[in-house]
Amino acid sequence: MLGNFTYSNPTRLYFGKDALENLKTELKKYGKNVLLIYGGGSIKRTGLYDKIIYILQEAEKNVFEDAGVMPNPTVEKLYEGAKRAKACNADLLLAVGGGSVIDYAKAVAVSAHCEEDPWDKYYLRFEEPTCRILPIGSVLTMVGTGSEMNGGAVITNPDQKLKIGHVFGENVFPKFSILNPELTFTVPKYQMVAGIFDIMSHIMEQYFSGEDDNTSDYIMEGLMRSLIHSSRIAAKDPLNYEARSNIMWISTWALNTLVAKGKTTDWMVHMIGQSIGAYTDATHGMTLSSVSLAYYRYILKDGLHQFKKFALNVWNVSPDQKSDEAIALEGLEAMEHWMKEIGLVLNITELGVTEELLDGIVKGTLSMDGGYKKLTSSDILEILKRSM
Ligand code: NZQ
Ligand code: ZN
Repeated sequence: MLGNFTYSNPTRLYFGKDALENLKTELKKYGKNVLLIYGGGSIKRTGLYDKIIYILQEAEKNVFEDAGVMPNPTVEKLYEGAKRAKACNADLLLAVGGGSVIDYAKAVAVSAHCEEDPWDKYYLRFEEPTCRILPIGSVLTMVGTGSEMNGGAVITNPDQKLKIGHVFGENVFPKFSILNPELTFTVPKYQMVAGIFDIMSHIMEQYFSGEDDNTSDYIMEGLMRSLIHSSRIAAKDPLNYEARSNIMWISTWALNTLVAKGKTTDWMVHMIGQSIGAYTDATHGMTLSSVSLAYYRYILKDGLHQFKKFALNVWNVSPDQKSDEAIALEGLEAMEHWMKEIGLVLNITELGVTEELLDGIVKGTLSMDGGYKKLTSSDILEILKRSM
């Protein structure tokens, strides 16, 4: 049964090869001062930076820059960016990059005019913003997080060994996002497949929860089938527009809040993955792929009906004469085969996790209660050991 919910999403999306043409129209809605936020330089190498600067100049904006947003953006960088956004009296934050850049822009948006320490307020106390929030627009260059159409903003505190996501409300979602699949063609293959698994994990962590016959599950099965199909093409032929554009659109739908409506969700793979990220600074999608098989095999018996459905409807496992458990296990085997085929990392050792780090990673993992099994610290430790 669907529970009560409200659905609304304020982000205006522009999709396709000509999507960037809409930036000029969007810029007219905001004041003169634009803070252009980007990462470590890929946008300069691809020529996108020059195109954006040209459009900003044509629109007669005062352009300020905040460059060098790192993958897994840190709290130190956030403090610096918040000061910069306030000092230039930004009217719009224009984030050009992947999830890290867009997440960071959201964190800056709620921190520039915040009187308190934003790490303590948003990431330790999970409070909502009470200050003026700066509007954000995004141009997406790397697919996976869904940050272009949601309120998620994940920040890492390397000193405290914590990586935490605050899911802000609609007032922090990007006002607009520009999605041209061709802008993702230059993403290195390792990052591309990490992004593909991030999408898969977002869907699975919403799918593997609840008992009921839920419309969202049918939508998610369709999204996963399309993702598996397109990812196989993209892994062999990264410049295939059809596959890359499908993956981009699936990514947005995987985490723009729609499929979670009216149902419970799990999120334990992300909780473990984020803690691994806090200790290793590893690529987000790979922190998820490296623990997923161990996690899902560990909880399979607790959510058997859903694992069976997953095997039959997503992986086309043939049910004949098999027990439910055998069907469910065959589904996960098919997933493992696909993960190897597209080149995902399948163990945490490869990401730099050693035995000595395990206790810390367990401590940094928040245990959620929406999945099929509420994990204790010893469950999490066991899953990590099975992922080594
Ligand atoms: O920094 P540059 O030079 O731009 O290089 C980036 C970065 O090194 C590169 N890249 C991006 N677009 C490119 C490109 N290289 C060549 N050509 C392009 N077109 O890719 C690298 C990774 O970028 P990043 O933004 O870090 O990747 P991703 O989009 O996976 O974002 C990861 C961050 O998002 C958070 C993660 O925890 C992590 O911090 N997440 C945000 C979520 C949300 N907002 O809801 C949910 C997710 O589960 C996730 O937790
Ligand atoms: Zn993710």
